Amino acid sequence: MRKSAIAVMAGLAGLGLATVAATAGVVKDDGLKPYEIVGDIAIPKPLTDKPGDPARGRKLIANRKKGNCLACHKIDQMKDYPFHGEIGPDLSDLASNMPAEEIRLRLVNPKVINPDTIMPAFYRVEGLYRVMKKFRGKPILTAQEIEDIISYLVTLKKPEQK
Ligand code: HEC
Repeated sequence: MRKSAIAVMAGLAGLGLATVAATAGVVKDDGLKPYEIVGDIAIPKPLTDKPGDPARGRKLIANRKKGNCLACHKIDQMKDYPFHGEIGPDLSDLASNMPAEEIRLRLVNPKVINPDTIMPAFYRVEGLYRVMKKFRGKPILTAQEIEDIISYLVTLKKPEQK
């Protein structure tokens, strides 16, 4: 009797880990660092203790196997890379419009903000579909890569507004 009770508890603990509280509170996802979504719009705390590296973030934004953000977004400050898409909003003045904590949720899981968005959830394991085999069970970006990208995005301001 005792043994099976322990087995049931272990099973429940496993389920608990895989549960994602989609709208509020602490979110736990397989193998991911826990984070807290506040007000369905922001993740105020950085995912890592190490500050983001903006130069690394800029490269990740352009990297087609990583952020690939330019496929959908125009960023004037990154004209050294060709072919910017226009499916998503122009990010060239993002820092004037959106604080880092809201950018963080956009990158981690934009579906919390807009369930119908075509923008991928970059720090999510469950619920991903059309994922290449090598990405299964892993988020597209690591927690540190998310912070690197945010640290570059918060520098994006149109020159006349500086
Ligand atoms: C497949 C296309 C696609 C890709 C790839 C993509 N996005 Fe998006 N993104 C969108 C769309 C569409 C929106 C508009 C909002 C929505 O759909 O909810 C958006 C919205 C945003 C917003 C909010 C902008 C605003 O003014 O409201 C930010 C910030 C953003 N994306 C950053 C990124 C970054 C950084 C990357 C790369 C790591 C990225 N996106 C990759 C399609 C994409």
